[in-house]
Amino acid sequence: MNWIDAGPSGTLTDGQTRSIAVGRRMIAIARSGESYFAFEDVCTHDGAELTGGAIEGEEIICPRHGARFCMRTGEALTAPAYEPVRVFDTKIEGGRLWVRAE
Ligand code: FES
Repeated sequence: MNWIDAGPSGTLTDGQTRSIAVGRRMIAIARSGESYFAFEDVCTHDGAELTGGAIEGEEIICPRHGARFCMRTGEALTAPAYEPVRVFDTKIEGGRLWVRAE
């Protein structure tokens, strides 16, 4: 796995999400407080983008039907999603957000 430069960390504000393309995959990056998360930007219920979903602590709420996912583990926490989303490691280095992805 390679570290991908996802841009300046300061441009992602608390509670904000953004989608980045890594190869053919779309990865959502999100900030909650001083924590940064990265996960596949595809809801396991019906394929909606998770980007733009509301963030509560370490959870994101799918904007289409409201399933909740843990952004740290990818676990589906509420129906109608039951399968986890894939998550990726993040780090802040040199003022930039890095995502470890293929
Ligand atoms: S598409 Fe995400 S909850 Fe249905």
